[in-house]
Amino acid sequence: MTPMSAPVGGDRPFLNRRLAAFGTTIFAEMSALAARTGSINLGQGFPDTDGPAQIAEAASRAVLTGQGNQYPPGPGIAELRTAIAAHQQRFYGLGYDPDSEVLVTAGATEAIAACLLALLEPGDEVIALEPYYDSYAACIAMAGATRVPVTLRPHGGAFALDLDELRAAVTPRTRLLLLNTPHNPTGTVLTPDELAAIAALAVERDLLVVTDEVYEHLVFEGSHTPLAGFPGMRERTVTISSAGKTYSFTGWKVGWITAPPELVSAVRSAKQFLTYVSSGPFQYAIAEALHLPDAYYDALRADLAAKRDILADGLAAAGFQVFRPRGTYFITTDITPLGEKDGLAFCRALPERCEVVAIPNQVFYDDKAAGATQVRWAFCKKTEVLEEAVERLRRL
Ligand SMILES: Cc1ncc(COP(=O)(O)O)c(C=O)c1O
Repeated sequence: MTPMSAPVGGDRPFLNRRLAAFGTTIFAEMSALAARTGSINLGQGFPDTDGPAQIAEAASRAVLTGQGNQYPPGPGIAELRTAIAAHQQRFYGLGYDPDSEVLVTAGATEAIAACLLALLEPGDEVIALEPYYDSYAACIAMAGATRVPVTLRPHGGAFALDLDELRAAVTPRTRLLLLNTPHNPTGTVLTPDELAAIAALAVERDLLVVTDEVYEHLVFEGSHTPLAGFPGMRERTVTISSAGKTYSFTGWKVGWITAPPELVSAVRSAKQFLTYVSSGPFQYAIAEALHLPDAYYDALRADLAAKRDILADGLAAAGFQVFRPRGTYFITTDITPLGEKDGLAFCRALPERCEVVAIPNQVFYDDKAAGATQVRWAFCKKTEVLEEAVERLRRL
């Protein structure tokens, strides 16, 4: 028998200091709560219907015909890189060389990690729009850099960026702007004027920009404008996207970056030691998906716009203040009109009260007070599921 022994590794915690603040994500807690209580899960943002059957068949064909079952090439298969470059040209008129300016990643998540690990030195400052997607803060921390949040604030029924605040956040230590448009969780889509001002600032202060545009095809009013297209931006911008949101195959984890050769090469240096490669057969299927006709993208947008309206109207009827999103498949609401003050406590109690699960936005903030009363709902679910959720929310 082992005598009472000192803890393994001494008193030092296993999880290192850089990650100590990032325990289990709220998504794990809330999804477990949804399963335990039989609630409708509008917490995590994944569709409850798979993408096009023709693309699923392409994936299964790839597996059965031995395409991508062994390690694919490090930068991604040529067919996919060519399709990504063609997509950037087709939708935005942006030219990228498939061999030197495109890199396939394990979802946008790995792209974010590889960009930040490759491009940052310890001590660098990174400006990110708050509230932010949860992996940003963790990856900035893993890179040993410092995050400097610029908070999007409610203004005229939407969350808006204060350009003066953004300008004031830049210091001599700022290395990189980490942007996200369309923006999760607020649904804000940065306007061409805002993007032009951000671009001018990046050029003036000679900053690198990493822009997460995974919701590029989910813009309901107007259209998506990539930051890389503004003057002086192509050479300093890494654009991230992913097949998960656009084609409703979030489990396949096919993502990519487009950027000039020197930036792609730097990001590839980090990426090769993360997954090296991933998603072999799915890369063939997504190469095909990227060539889907405009009708596919129009139908996806129309379907989600209708779902947004069902959920937004239902949430408003239940008493929430609703920030109707211009993009993404998330709605942010404020719970203050319901007499509530704490979004985390509200979300923890919600399954008991009406068998629906949502996410408290405060987990996406450094400034917890700024997001204390906000709650996020995903509407990438079947119409009947959203209608049932709206019915249940009436109990509030
Ligand atoms: C803003 C944003 N970036 C990145 C991701 C992750 O994308 P992927 O599933 O391709 O890794 C998500 C997923 O929710 C997201 O909302």
